[in-house]
Amino acid sequence: MSGHKPPASFFPTTALDHAFAGIGAGVVAVLCMHPLDLLKVKFQVATEKPKGGLGGQIWNSLKEVKTNEGWRGLYRGVGPNIAGNASSWGLYFLFYNMLKTHASGNDPSFNMSAGSYLLYSAEASAVTAIMTNPIWVVKVRMFTTRADNPQAYRSLWDGLSSIYRTEGISGWYRGTSLALFGVSNGALQFMTYEKMKQWGFERKRKQFQKAGREWRPEDDKLSNTSYTVMSGASKLLALSLTYPYQVVRSRIQNNATTHLYPDIPTCIKRTFRDERFGGFYRGLGTNLVRVLPGTCVTFVVYENLAWLLRTAAAKREQKRLLASEDASGS
Ligand SMILES: *[C@@H]1O[C@H](CO)[C@@H](O)[C@H](O)[C@H]1NC(C)=O
Ligand SMILES: *[C@@H]1O[C@H](CO)[C@@H](O)[C@H](O)[C@H]1NC(C)=O
Ligand SMILES: *[C@@H]1O[C@H](CO)[C@@H](O)[C@H](O)[C@H]1NC(C)=O
Ligand SMILES: *[C@@H]1O[C@H](CO)[C@@H](O)[C@H](O)[C@H]1NC(C)=O
Repeated sequence: MSGHKPPASFFPTTALDHAFAGIGAGVVAVLCMHPLDLLKVKFQVATEKPKGGLGGQIWNSLKEVKTNEGWRGLYRGVGPNIAGNASSWGLYFLFYNMLKTHASGNDPSFNMSAGSYLLYSAEASAVTAIMTNPIWVVKVRMFTTRADNPQAYRSLWDGLSSIYRTEGISGWYRGTSLALFGVSNGALQFMTYEKMKQWGFERKRKQFQKAGREWRPEDDKLSNTSYTVMSGASKLLALSLTYPYQVVRSRIQNNATTHLYPDIPTCIKRTFRDERFGGFYRGLGTNLVRVLPGTCVTFVVYENLAWLLRTAAAKREQKRLLASEDASGS
């Protein structure tokens, strides 16, 4: 099978190809989701009762912002989000694929175990969370400070340098331990997603074998629908497994309920006694509506870009082979 030779890469290494696809996915996802994030804040502060269904409301508000403020209005404050999400996805896929390539000896048909996916994904996202933490610190402060405050950061760069001047390096790494908790969610999602993809490709190869079709480099992808369903389902699973932890954490951190939930065991016991399992999943639905579209867009764009680079590299390789055969043949 041709799968045993290392795949061609567009950039010098496959990990760089994936980093590029990750950056592209981060940028597109933010461009798609940013106006909706903006609306969420607008709806939350609105005092009038909205008219019409949810779809109509969203559409009308988007149109209103656009007529009043133009495209710029829909994309206010998008800079730090693009910088943060694009560098996060880029770095994540870079490290993740470096680890995977190292473990599989760059053999694309290598069957990686679920445990390995979990481990490599956790390592890659921990390193990424630490490296991108300064950007998120600036973003949070930019979003929570009004523009007329003289101390408001004017840009990402202004924020980074001003934090460095006033608080030193440690200012950049505020809240890193909290960011690291997100690692388990991402790792579970990737493990599930990769296993579903493995299964999808196996099925496709079997279909090709049955039909006697040749597997070409450009066949090395699944449908957009498959990627959407797989990324959505894996996110759903990962979130369901880690959600109880988030509920317990916010109940313990909430000042108003300290008398009810003084510590973790009491919080778990009391929640189960009063609300059964449903208590550990309060608000999961809203959370899913918020994160699923962004997740699916990110994965579909990432897979398509990675495939584009893979096929471009394979075509280039083929051309080079033909040219060298011509040269040695004549
Ligand atoms: C960007 O990153 C932040 C923090 O990780 C996340 O909350 C947000 O959903 C991301 N946005 C998109 C569109 O992926
Ligand atoms: C991976 O698993 C598939 C099916 O389970 C098998 O056909 C294939 O030969 C395996 N590849 C390697 C490198 O072991
Ligand atoms: C997935 O969507 C992209 C962008 O619309 C498109 O270019 C690509 O051909 C689609 N892929 C498949 C397998 O349909
Ligand atoms: C939380 O409660 C404590 C004691 O009741 C109080 O001193 C503290 O200021 C409160 N913190 C917040 C953020 O409300």
